[in-house]
Amino acid sequence: MMVDGQFGQAGREVIVEEYLEGHEVSIHAFCDGKTATLFPPSQDHKRLLDGDQGPNTGGMGTYAPVHWVTQQMLDDIRKTIVMPVLRALSDRGTPFCGCLYPGLIHTRQGFKVLEFNARFGDPETQSYMRLLESDLAETLLACVDGRLEQAAVKWSAGSAACVVAASEGYPGDYQKGRTICGLEQAAAMDDVVIFQAGTSEVNGATVIAGGRVLSVTATAETLSAAVDRCYRAIGQISFEGMQYRRDIGAKGLR
Ligand code: GLY
Repeated sequence: MMVDGQFGQAGREVIVEEYLEGHEVSIHAFCDGKTATLFPPSQDHKRLLDGDQGPNTGGMGTYAPVHWVTQQMLDDIRKTIVMPVLRALSDRGTPFCGCLYPGLIHTRQGFKVLEFNARFGDPETQSYMRLLESDLAETLLACVDGRLEQAAVKWSAGSAACVVAASEGYPGDYQKGRTICGLEQAAAMDDVVIFQAGTSEVNGATVIAGGRVLSVTATAETLSAAVDRCYRAIGQISFEGMQYRRDIGAKGLR
């Protein structure tokens, strides 16, 4: 981590922490300072390569919900992790309104907190936006106005999958400017939506402009069907050096 200052200033200090072994789960909660409404649980895939190999990335794909996370587990997470943080922040005079995103590891001793983010996760949000049936803006306004309890947040009963297509070299240095093909064909498929991130337009062509280039998402009644659909869609897209994981969602299908 410290060789050649790979992570810049962030790599100058090392904190030794408990090693958490288990499956990672992303929890998101709308918060209005006093109360919280949890999203369905999702799972990110942080490593670049299949089987959780290779370097860490910003996230190579997600699916939601995670079926082995039961409603009882979610109720416990809300009660023992999310609400105590909201109460502590409120008691300090800094009530939190917005999206709280605790990253958890499900260990043999139960869920443990890896990190707290005060934002939506990426690429969790791509899957979430495919499942959210109620109005996001209305819910965010209810958070700001402190009336989240009155907001009806509604999620689809189906599943969503998201696969990220990254540039050659990512998460290290990558080439920009390569042309992306097949976007229109993929986007035309039923229940498929493509979120562009590291792209720009040059002379009418969509080209690479970032490390994580785009996220292909698909929804279906089951996770298995959502994952199949997502891979059929990303199979339509190509650019030189394109890399993506082939095992997104596999852990949820075991
Ligand atoms: N899913 C990783 C992040 O948003 O930090």
